[in-house]
Amino acid sequence: MGAIAVCPGSFDPITYGHLDIIRRGAKVFDQIYVVVLNNSSKQPLFSVDERIKLIKEVTKDIPNVKVDSFQGLLVDYAKSVNANAIIRGLRAVSDFEYEMQITSMNRVLNDEIETFFIMTNNQYSFLSSSIVKEVAKYNGDISELVPAYVEEALKDKFAK
Ligand code: PNS
Repeated sequence: MGAIAVCPGSFDPITYGHLDIIRRGAKVFDQIYVVVLNNSSKQPLFSVDERIKLIKEVTKDIPNVKVDSFQGLLVDYAKSVNANAIIRGLRAVSDFEYEMQITSMNRVLNDEIETFFIMTNNQYSFLSSSIVKEVAKYNGDISELVPAYVEEALKDKFAK
């Protein structure tokens, strides 16, 4: 069995920043499960099914990526797919405290699952789904921030 990792997140919606982390992770791990999970402090714009559809479309060229969703704890999902690694992207120092809290909690819950951080490419260090939604809402240009397929989905969402 190869090295299996889970790449969790809200992905509301997936951005070029997420995609960069997924692509780089896919070069290191044999199999990556990109999993849409619930972040209780966020109110999502896209449904879980919509988010999965967007991720599937923009990762379809990466053979060792599977897309899934889960209601529950990340460590339980990881166990269910035999993953012993979690991949997270790290943008700036401001991410550190939040990531340390999640990582420490996950380690308390299951210390056999290790979290690996991939430093975001400099060009995406400011990028977040929230900022993309904010710009898209007011018809700003997001073509450099998300794939065209996601851009269309955002336009549709805000046109309604
Ligand atoms: O993209 P996000 O919102 O930063 O991702 C956070 C996420 C969804 C990975 C995190 O909230 C999570 O793991 N949620 C599932 C519930 C869980 O396992 N919580 C315990 C660790 S805090």
